[in-house]
Amino acid sequence: MDRIRIVGGNPLNGVIPISGAKNAALPLMIASLLTDRTVTLENLPRLADVSLLVRILSNHGVDYSIDGRRHGEDPDSGQTVHMTAREIVDTTAPYELVSRMRASFWVLAPLLARCGQARVSLPGGCAIGTRPVDLLLMAMERLGAEIDIDAGYVVARAPGGLRGAEIVFPKVTVGGTHIALMAASLARGTTVIHNAAREPEVGDLADLLVKMGAKVKGAGSPVIEVEGVARLGGAKHRVLPDRIEAGTYAMATAMTGGDVLLEGARAEHLQAALDALIEAGAHVEDTPQGLRVSRNGNGLQAVDIATAPFPGFPTDLQAQFMALMTHASGVSRITETIFENRFMHVQELARLGAHIRLEGDTAIVEGVPALKGAPVMATDLRASVSLVIAALAAEGESMIQRVYHLDRGFEALERKLSRCGADITRISSGG
Ligand code: EPZ
Repeated sequence: MDRIRIVGGNPLNGVIPISGAKNAALPLMIASLLTDRTVTLENLPRLADVSLLVRILSNHGVDYSIDGRRHGEDPDSGQTVHMTAREIVDTTAPYELVSRMRASFWVLAPLLARCGQARVSLPGGCAIGTRPVDLLLMAMERLGAEIDIDAGYVVARAPGGLRGAEIVFPKVTVGGTHIALMAASLARGTTVIHNAAREPEVGDLADLLVKMGAKVKGAGSPVIEVEGVARLGGAKHRVLPDRIEAGTYAMATAMTGGDVLLEGARAEHLQAALDALIEAGAHVEDTPQGLRVSRNGNGLQAVDIATAPFPGFPTDLQAQFMALMTHASGVSRITETIFENRFMHVQELARLGAHIRLEGDTAIVEGVPALKGAPVMATDLRASVSLVIAALAAEGESMIQRVYHLDRGFEALERKLSRCGADITRISSGG
């Protein structure tokens, strides 16, 4: 298993190109199941989760081809892929695959909408909480699907096709909104989704669906209206920049000091996180090339945050912000309201010398003047990268184990950071 070695203390200076968003790429790829025509996605990040989803989709019959590198192109820039589901050959998504990546459960919606049936394994729990799928199933039932649970599988049928309906989500769900949008696009009649997620990734999926011929209004607001069409066509779409990757490197820069341009990052996608960073003492400038983040000289101040659905502070940046607060002056309260068990990083940050106490859904972080390098263990994707941020500022060497979690969601992490002056190297299992 690969490890990452970091010797802390170097400020970050330079340019970090922001990759295509993982959490947009996954639903966009799944949407290719909705049509027999080709969906071309540009700026698709090179990530383990993307490769796994390719395997899952090809099992259902999706052909996949990838453009070679073009003259003058940065080898780390996103890929262009063409996906064609000419015929769906299998409407079952097996446990072996779904259990490895939760988002693959979302194939339920396009399979049901296009084939009138689907058999998809329940995803099971995961490191950040129980993460049920009751609201996703409720949305499909509202659209006329009959759902049974059999031997760990969701068996869904809509022999006469799906029909438009009102879907009212009692709590905001990103995955629920994605699958309601996909299924409603091919349902008969009009669907209105209430309390829809407003995350930019939902807007990106809606943009692709509209290019494919879907009739979607209101994406980005809490009420989305979809008028179903009989079939969808092919389209070409560029994956939006990864706001979580951008926010992560913004926090790394604030942590180490220095000055970094996050090329392609968009302020409107992460304003709540930028506000917290500014309050903590970082300088943020919105430029035509992207976001420029710096912290020169002055120290960090403690700031309280609570995670919330977009446009609130993203849960996917909570661990990274906690890493930052371990080194701030004062006491910060970090409240996690989305997932019940997303504090796996607390123990590992403590190994680096952080002072953190948990009180229910709140972590109380007492800033310390310096962290100290140590061996630590990556647990989930965002928790792992919070350890990278802390290690970049810690005195001495840290060794991060189980970095396959990072490879799921951060493209070229070591290269991006070392180009900006970080002392970070991957030690592959053979080395
Ligand atoms: C998406 O997960 C993201 N995943 C997550 O990113 C992100 O943390 C999350 O949204 C919240 O922003 C992808 O986009 C692939 P939800 P999702 O449905 O859609 C509860 C990362 O690190 N809920 O918005 O699965 C749920 O338990 C990942 O990149 C139900 O109760 O999240 C949670 O408390 C991790 N019943 C809340 O809603 C349901 O049927 C929000 O979850 C569905 C969800």
